[in-house]
Amino acid sequence: MLADLLPGPFACAEAFAEGEGEGEGGTLAEEEPLTAGMGPRRRRDFADGRACARRALAALGLPPGPVLRTSTGAPRWPDGVVGSITHCAGYRAAVVAWQRDVPVLGVDAEPNLPLPPRVLNGIALPEERAWVERLDRAEPGVAWGRLLFCVKEAVYKAWSPWTGRWLGFTEAVVSLDRDGGVFTARLPRGGLLGRWGVGRGLLVTAATSLTT
Ligand SMILES: CC(C)(COP(=O)(O)OP(=O)(O)OC[C@H]1O[C@@H](n2cnc3c(N)ncnc32)[C@H](O)[C@@H]1OP(=O)(O)O)[C@@H](O)C(=O)NCCC(=O)NCCS
Repeated sequence: MLADLLPGPFACAEAFAEGEGEGEGGTLAEEEPLTAGMGPRRRRDFADGRACARRALAALGLPPGPVLRTSTGAPRWPDGVVGSITHCAGYRAAVVAWQRDVPVLGVDAEPNLPLPPRVLNGIALPEERAWVERLDRAEPGVAWGRLLFCVKEAVYKAWSPWTGRWLGFTEAVVSLDRDGGVFTARLPRGGLLGRWGVGRGLLVTAATSLTT
């Protein structure tokens, strides 16, 4: 999924089965404090995400060290590396790249299932709701409202480490290309470009570059 969307210079590791991270050593001792207060499912997600992160870092030639956390919850990557982690039912992935090649990076995955209307109303601007409704009618095989949500989550994961700032759902104005698999997000400061994909019952998104 994200691996198909993001060829080099990105390094992507993904897993479709839950608990694969436990077989790969999962959470390292240094990372254990980060899991305090997590229930069993969230711990498994965390371990799977960290296992993917180590595989992705290995693909850049980096050793399998702990991936700690910044004060805002983002993974703390080695110097010179950008990256992002996502987990949802049936999918977990980590993507990394050298910052000299990729300035910002955020990824997200969601099931390809309709977003409850109440949630859509909370995250979408009127212009975004208009294209969601239009595309829902034209191509019902994609949950366009959920895709909008997925894009906004990826945008936030790129934006937050880049700016150190919070971003509300209605502060980003998203438009996307139905056939080309690309999206843009207009932000309070500049904008982001990214890619989206659908398959295996999943939606995946990656915010990968800054607009000029
Ligand atoms: C942080 C957030 C984006 C996570 O998304 P999610 O779909 O709930 O969960 P995912 O499994 O896909 O991603 C979780 C991972 O995101 C990463 N993450 C958490 N906070 C982050 C941040 N501030 N910056 C970058 N990545 C972050 C972590 O790696 C986390 O996994 P981990 O704790 O196991 O390391 C979401 O919970 C959130 O707070 N959203 C509100 C802000 C927002 O999205 N605004 C939209 C602006 S347009």
